[in-house]
Amino acid sequence: MKIPIVGKEVKFNNLFIGLIFFAAASFIFFIYAINFSLLITALILFVYVRFVRKLDDLPSYLNLSILGAIAILIPLFTVITFKMSGYGVAAIGFIMLVTLLFNNLEFSFILALFISFLSASIDGGNFNVGISLFAGSLVGAMLSYRIRRRFQVIRAGFFAGLVQFIVAFLMEREQSFFVLSGMDFNLLKLCLFNGVISSFIVLGILPVFEYIFKVVTNISLLELSDFNHPLLRKLILEAPGTYQHSLVVANLSEMATESIGANSLLARVGAYYHDIGKMVKPDYFVENLVNYRDVHKNLKPSMSKLIIFNHVKDGVDLAAKHHLNPKIIDFISQHHGRTLVYYFYQRAKELEPDGKHEEEYRYPGPRPQIKEIAIVALADAIEALSRTLEEPNPSRIEEMVREVVKKRFMEGELDESNLTLKELEKITQSFIRILNAIFHTRINYPKDDSNRDNKSAKSKENKS
Ligand SMILES: [Fe+2]
Ligand SMILES: [Fe+2]
Repeated sequence: MKIPIVGKEVKFNNLFIGLIFFAAASFIFFIYAINFSLLITALILFVYVRFVRKLDDLPSYLNLSILGAIAILIPLFTVITFKMSGYGVAAIGFIMLVTLLFNNLEFSFILALFISFLSASIDGGNFNVGISLFAGSLVGAMLSYRIRRRFQVIRAGFFAGLVQFIVAFLMEREQSFFVLSGMDFNLLKLCLFNGVISSFIVLGILPVFEYIFKVVTNISLLELSDFNHPLLRKLILEAPGTYQHSLVVANLSEMATESIGANSLLARVGAYYHDIGKMVKPDYFVENLVNYRDVHKNLKPSMSKLIIFNHVKDGVDLAAKHHLNPKIIDFISQHHGRTLVYYFYQRAKELEPDGKHEEEYRYPGPRPQIKEIAIVALADAIEALSRTLEEPNPSRIEEMVREVVKKRFMEGELDESNLTLKELEKITQSFIRILNAIFHTRINYPKDDSNRDNKSAKSKENKS
């Protein structure tokens, strides 16, 4: 059942989960006599970003409830169970984790506000605790936003802890500014310990949370982009042509994704893995044909189609066996959408002109569900077609790219990916630019005879 709220339809199940969380949180607030103003403020801010700002990339209600529960449990355990100071609440670590997982600073800021002032409230209403945790968490969120390497997480944790200390130090000081007491050093140790240790913990538990929330962080993506990954190594050895194809698709996709501000690293890594299923039967794909020996010649078109279709299914199975992140598996299952295997469809029509083959020769889908996959799907088709271009020049390249994009658009292949027409034009231009650069380097320039003449003249000079 769907319920319309402020012009948006919200699934009843989701709303139910959210309500259960809110009831449970209210109960905890009631038991521990925590000020309810915090819960209400968090709710108002959530309604604002979800329904007024209309941020669609917010986590689901279930994931939000899990995050909300963690945000409540961390200060409860730290202050009440372990009887530590409110400054020791791992707000920085939690906010860095949220930023790494969801790449949404606005959302991180709201959670930072919530956990910081909740900690302050549980710690006897110490306002200084709230402000210093909030300042540290904001720095942690900003420094861990869109980072790609593990050491950057530790660095973010260190600086966030330092900022937490500076703010706490300024607010807690009673003596002259230049007199440092034992209490200040303890506070410094606590804040730095909080920032650095929690960032190590974040790195350790990140894969678990990626699995729970079904997301992939830049850190994992960068690890997946390493060509020493067993699947990529196997691809290089067993299907070198497909590997080369994937590299070009990755370059095309990365630049095009960057041009519209989407996740270029996700597109690049998705492109590396999109055709791994081809290594099961590499010889049946044109890019791997040895001496152009056509293995499909003696096969029925329906058989060829089946082999071609299976690279998607085999790819998904291989990826699952190697525990690839579900976000990368989506690239494998969606990159052909519902497109037609045109070559074998034509052959089937030649053999059986009266037969209705169109549905039979279409990939089963699903169509690309996100922008990054739609871009890889376009780059995939463009790269394959670019190999057949005879005497490529800028106008032929542009014509070919626009033709592919237009066809995919008209067939509804991009309908579920949220790409806008404006973005599609930027993507098209980016493809044209990169293909021109690729073909420019491939063109054989006429040999520079003048240079050769000069050389022979020089050698003659030397001899004489
Ligand atoms: Fe493919
Ligand atoms: Fe491909």
